[in-house]
Amino acid sequence: MNVSFGAGGEIQRGMEDSILSDVRSGTLKVGVPKEIVTGERRVALVPDSVGRLLKAGFAVLVEAGAGEGAFYADRQYEDAGARIVTGAADLFGQADIVLKVQKPTVNDALGAHEVELMPEGATLITFIQPLLNPDLVRLLAKRRITSFSMDAIPRIARAQAMDALSSQSAVAGYKAVLIAANALGKFFPMMMTAAGTIAPTKVLVMGTGVAGLQAIATARRLGAVVQGYDIRPATKEQVESLGATFISPQLAEQTETTGGYAQQLAEDAQERERALVQRVVKGVDIVVTTALIPGRRAPVLVTAPMVQEMQPGSVIVDIAAEMGGNCELTEPGTVVVRHGVTIHGPLNLPSAMPVHASQMYARNISNMLLHLTREGQLHLDFEDSITGACCITHNGQVLHEASRALVSASTPDA
Ligand code: NAI
Repeated sequence: MNVSFGAGGEIQRGMEDSILSDVRSGTLKVGVPKEIVTGERRVALVPDSVGRLLKAGFAVLVEAGAGEGAFYADRQYEDAGARIVTGAADLFGQADIVLKVQKPTVNDALGAHEVELMPEGATLITFIQPLLNPDLVRLLAKRRITSFSMDAIPRIARAQAMDALSSQSAVAGYKAVLIAANALGKFFPMMMTAAGTIAPTKVLVMGTGVAGLQAIATARRLGAVVQGYDIRPATKEQVESLGATFISPQLAEQTETTGGYAQQLAEDAQERERALVQRVVKGVDIVVTTALIPGRRAPVLVTAPMVQEMQPGSVIVDIAAEMGGNCELTEPGTVVVRHGVTIHGPLNLPSAMPVHASQMYARNISNMLLHLTREGQLHLDFEDSITGACCITHNGQVLHEASRALVSASTPDA
């Protein structure tokens, strides 16, 4: 096996003994590669989370430099008991279980897909977004990888400690408000100064799920006057408990699924929604939009004429940009100024807060791994509602029902 440890690439004595002992004892190796997607600064495990996995009976391998983007040095991982492996090929080649943040992709430097670097039959836990990536699902099945998608973890109480969508959305909601505050030429809090009284900034947060509630809390901490808008009346209490005012269109129909998510509105209800939004939007300085309906394009809540009615200098931060955006004028991944209004469409906000985003993600993914294992060995119970919901491929089969339909309906990439 072509392995190298330490900065010099040589296998250090002691570590060599330790590898041999892992091989003899059947200890599973958990591998953490360096993320290679452009702009991704998070890492799947932080040094603090290593000890817990060692205690559970795993060996932990970390690719040299994996924590750099989040300011975690190789030395810190080593001090925590992990081994540093130089190079992605060695890391993927040795790991029984790979923990990642971004979906696997082609490693240009090696001219190979990350999935192809994994031994057949290995296990992968990461964000896969299987419904958007049928070719990846097909490749995972072909390589007989047992894969689990962190974005498929159900939002149920029992899975809260593994819910990476929520932890990363909270980061995004927080950061969105800081971006808005930075772009606005105004103070957030009311100020009474010798130079006169400054009125507080007015913020509207649209979509008061996980990201929205964190955006409200952040804007309130900075002293803004905040309104939270959602079509699910169930969020009213949470919005108000943060000191914001709740607004919602009066809709006769059911707006929530049994799973607690929003339902797409009928056309006439959307019209009523737009009339309400139009009235509110023109009176605020900042709009943060986070509205999401799972599996669908983000609903358009702020139209071009609404932007035109906003005061010049106002700011929109549309964190639903990845799913098309809640504002008609959002350009995903960029910042545009339209009618004097600055519109941000950020794509990977958690990566802009890599330290805490990685810390929270590491906690989520470690909990997930421990959920899937007993005494350091995989113990898969597909009847379990968490394991069953997020296992995408196993033993050459696509187990995730919605992905299976998509994989058989789509044509493989040439
Ligand atoms: P969530 O499901 O917890 O919240 C979404 C909220 O939108 C729900 O409360 C829902 O009722 C509401 N909503 C749906 N349709 C609506 C409508 N027509 N009008 C008003 N409210 C409506 O989702 P979460 O986790 O808060 O994520 C929110 C968004 O943030 C998602 O689009 C997600 O993709 C995005 N996100 C973006 C990141 C980035 O870096 N840009 C990072 C993390 C999340």
